[in-house]
Amino acid sequence: MLENVAGAQVARTPEEVRAWVREARQNGKRIALVPTMGALHAGHITLVDAARQHAEAVLVSIFVNPMQFGPKEDFSAYPRPFENDCSRCAEAGVDLIYAPTPATMYPEGYQSHVEVERLTQGLCGAARPTHFRGVTTVVMKLLNIAQADVAVFGEKDYQQLQALKRMALDLDHPTQILGAPIARESDGLAMSSRNVYLTADERAAAPVIVRSLRAAQAQVQAGERDPKLVVAQLVAAMTAAGGRVDYTEIVDPETLQPVATLDRPTRAIVATWFGRARLLDNMDLLP
Ligand code: PAF
Repeated sequence: MLENVAGAQVARTPEEVRAWVREARQNGKRIALVPTMGALHAGHITLVDAARQHAEAVLVSIFVNPMQFGPKEDFSAYPRPFENDCSRCAEAGVDLIYAPTPATMYPEGYQSHVEVERLTQGLCGAARPTHFRGVTTVVMKLLNIAQADVAVFGEKDYQQLQALKRMALDLDHPTQILGAPIARESDGLAMSSRNVYLTADERAAAPVIVRSLRAAQAQVQAGERDPKLVVAQLVAAMTAAGGRVDYTEIVDPETLQPVATLDRPTRAIVATWFGRARLLDNMDLLP
């Protein structure tokens, strides 16, 4: 039986989701899935709104996926304001929330994984070697449960989005994987559930990330062709503002391989620590 939490309908098992999907399909509805780990903010609501453009029934999953956290990462500290998430979903007109427990997702004896090889090696994959295997596995399970027409993911996690597109293509999954533009605070900081970890000083400093990406974009569009020089300036700006840069790369937007010269579409991708928040952002330098 579906639960009602803060005005939203909540399913706890794959069977409940499948029954809901069957009924929606019988009523001629297209279905969109928005996978999340909860701690929903306005950025997630832009994903719901994007999903609504493609479907009459929107399903949001809320699951803090243990498989995508490394042993020293913030799995236990990750915020879980479930009631608040449900009320945000209800306000946004979400039709169903799927909120399984880890034991439902990965029951005793679980041993299957999905891996996308090359796209997940560098960038975030370098510092978080088991992360993407956890993401692709859980998303494949969610896609299989929901059988949605489309699934929507934010472009802030650009490498994740590319890996998920590749996974669906390689494994012939019928759900179309769509990216939605990065949602930003008024000062440009990319919205993230991890922004709550920032102290007031770190929060004030963090928009240097987007400012330096915009400066890099302007520089490249004005004719700069050397990616090494652009990367060095990005790193210097973020470091000067107190960031601890994990990586900054300028890559081909499809293959995510570093480019040697800035003469075709490229994306700058950065991960920078401010305090205990590891912040991601990215931008097209040459569209
Ligand atoms: O982007 C996220 O929030 C997560 O990686 C996802 C896609 C919901 C999988 O757990």
